[in-house]
Amino acid sequence: MTLRGRFGKEMDDRAKAYTVSVPFDQRLYKQDIAGSIAHARMLAKQGIISDKDAELIIMGLVSIREEIEQGRFKFKEELEDIHMNIESRLIEKIGDVGAKLHTARSRNDQVATDMRLFAKEAISETITRLKVLQQAILALAGDNKRLVMPGYTHLQRAQPVLFAHHLLAYFEMFQRDVGRFQQCHERTDVMPLGSGALAGVPYPIDRDFLAKELGFSKVSANSLDAVSDRDFAIDYLAAASLTMMHVSRLAEEIVLWSTAEFGFVEIDDAFATGSSIMPQKKNPDVAELARGKTGRVYGHLVAAFTTMKALPLSYNRDLQEDKEGLFDSVDTILTTLEVLAPLVASLHVKSDRIGRAAEANYTLATDIADYLVKKGIPFRQAHTIVGNLVRYAIESGKALHDIELIEYRRFCSDFENDVKSITVESSLAARNAPGGTAPEEVEKALAAARRMLHGT
Ligand code: ARG
Repeated sequence: MTLRGRFGKEMDDRAKAYTVSVPFDQRLYKQDIAGSIAHARMLAKQGIISDKDAELIIMGLVSIREEIEQGRFKFKEELEDIHMNIESRLIEKIGDVGAKLHTARSRNDQVATDMRLFAKEAISETITRLKVLQQAILALAGDNKRLVMPGYTHLQRAQPVLFAHHLLAYFEMFQRDVGRFQQCHERTDVMPLGSGALAGVPYPIDRDFLAKELGFSKVSANSLDAVSDRDFAIDYLAAASLTMMHVSRLAEEIVLWSTAEFGFVEIDDAFATGSSIMPQKKNPDVAELARGKTGRVYGHLVAAFTTMKALPLSYNRDLQEDKEGLFDSVDTILTTLEVLAPLVASLHVKSDRIGRAAEANYTLATDIADYLVKKGIPFRQAHTIVGNLVRYAIESGKALHDIELIEYRRFCSDFENDVKSITVESSLAARNAPGGTAPEEVEKALAAARRMLHGT
């Protein structure tokens, strides 16, 4: 029996090709089958279909899952999407009983449920991989606890900081990202199934049972909202965009640090690339791509916002556009985190070069100004005095430690011999307010980071 229903003719090929989604939404097969199995169970439990029918349906769905996983399933574009492909195959396999599965359900609540199941899994995996990256950052920081580097503002050498302190800044960023994904999980963990096409369903369904079966902690409160809301996808894209932004900053520093100009790190051969023409080159392509791929995730975020803007309630086919951007963003962020963690963990740190740079270019000038403040000179005056001193040092080609007390005193008579005891170490040690770069503060930060990571 061919069910033609309302339509007098076949759909135009161009319209079909335009609306088809199975090439990309087949990725939801697992979620779709899980949703259908739970639905069949619930229908039987509620006496809406018989236990025997439910059993047949479930067996059919399980074998379809196998067919898909073994690459034996023939996806048919004329069947539009993954939901219709699976349902039609089910009817092919078990006959008309299969046609009962769609009782008390619509593709609208079905696809919203599938997408939320997908997003929940993606969120958990993203958090796991973020933690692996944090672990790599933490290990690198812990291995180089005493290493001092120049801290930068405006990408100009500014004040000495511990290398570990610099790395822990990224740990903090990624920790906030983890928090965002956790909150995103909370909002995604709401089940739309049971909302029907838009108005709810006229059957005695048990939504709590469905939610339990599918691992949702809540059921949606409004059927119109449930079938047309894609906030959760945008939530993911927004959190992913921020994470990628942080990734791109770290990647940029790795690119910079691995230049001959900086020479702070060398990327391990396993994570570097060569040049097809210049035999001497070792390029940071992985870090560059991590930086570059940030753009596509931002793009998907803006695309999703734009698709959702001004959509009237409830379901509209525009919503099908939620998929490719989310899928691509998940793939992008997961593969990026997966490769960045070992790249960071295997960075070769050129400690000598970093250490020497820490003191170069007068990075202790602020400490000398602070020294004068302690002698009672107002900070602004101290700033000018040390500015003059630095200009003198630059003109005479001297580092600060080459300058004799007598030269110091030409700029201010309050200088005494103890000015010579200002060192990188004293500069670090002085910055011992919470969150500063003093070694004992950084030690505390390392311990706190370890606790955060291991959830203690
Ligand atoms: N492929 C569709 C989507 O992703 C599934 C829902 C179709 N519903 C409909 N009423 N046409 O949104």
